[in-house]
Amino acid sequence: MKRIVILISGRGSNMEAIVQRCAAEGWPAHVAAVIANKPEASGLGFAAALGIATAVVDHRAHASRDAFDAALAQAIDAHAPDLVVLAGFMRILGDAFVQRYAGRLLNVHPSLLPAFAGLHTHRRAIEAGCKLAGATVHFVTPTLDHGPIVAQAAVPVRPDDSPETLAARVLAVEHVIYPQAVRWFVSGELSIAEDGVVRHRGGADQLLLG
Ligand code: GAR
Repeated sequence: MKRIVILISGRGSNMEAIVQRCAAEGWPAHVAAVIANKPEASGLGFAAALGIATAVVDHRAHASRDAFDAALAQAIDAHAPDLVVLAGFMRILGDAFVQRYAGRLLNVHPSLLPAFAGLHTHRRAIEAGCKLAGATVHFVTPTLDHGPIVAQAAVPVRPDDSPETLAARVLAVEHVIYPQAVRWFVSGELSIAEDGVVRHRGGADQLLLG
């Protein structure tokens, strides 16, 4: 059984989707812990109610990013994970942290990367006049919101969309592709080529048109 540790900063709806799909589909894995960087992260309650170990490593209690990263790594390593999943984790992680979990650190970002790395993706997509938006699951590398792409989902941008309505449409497809990508990882179904391109070994569709 592979061990998954999920990092959250808030609501944790992607974490919930992963926990539920893992149980419902009988993945060869279990979620060993959910760790937040804020004690008020509401997703902690969902995890605790299911008996999943939870922890808080409060970034405000650490004087530097390095100190925070080190404390976070210690909390993660206590659960000996095969995979670390960033699910709405809104802290930038340092190079040493990323290197420590290289090849076993996934993130979901609410845009079609490499477009719109960073914050306010939905507002920026609307302001740019994009007709398509979406979400990307990728392996984490030291460059923010960058790294080998495991799966993407595309959704339309409607003429009357607000950042909130677009975010809701994108979030719905995140809940499909992120659990799928995690399942592929724990089942050993992903390969990363020399050129950094991620492929599903069985040729499964890594694009969802929502
Ligand atoms: C999701 O939309 C996720 O893509 C985004 O935060 C939201 C978290 O929702 N992540 C980022 O913006 C990371 N750069 P959740 O807490 O309900 O899963």
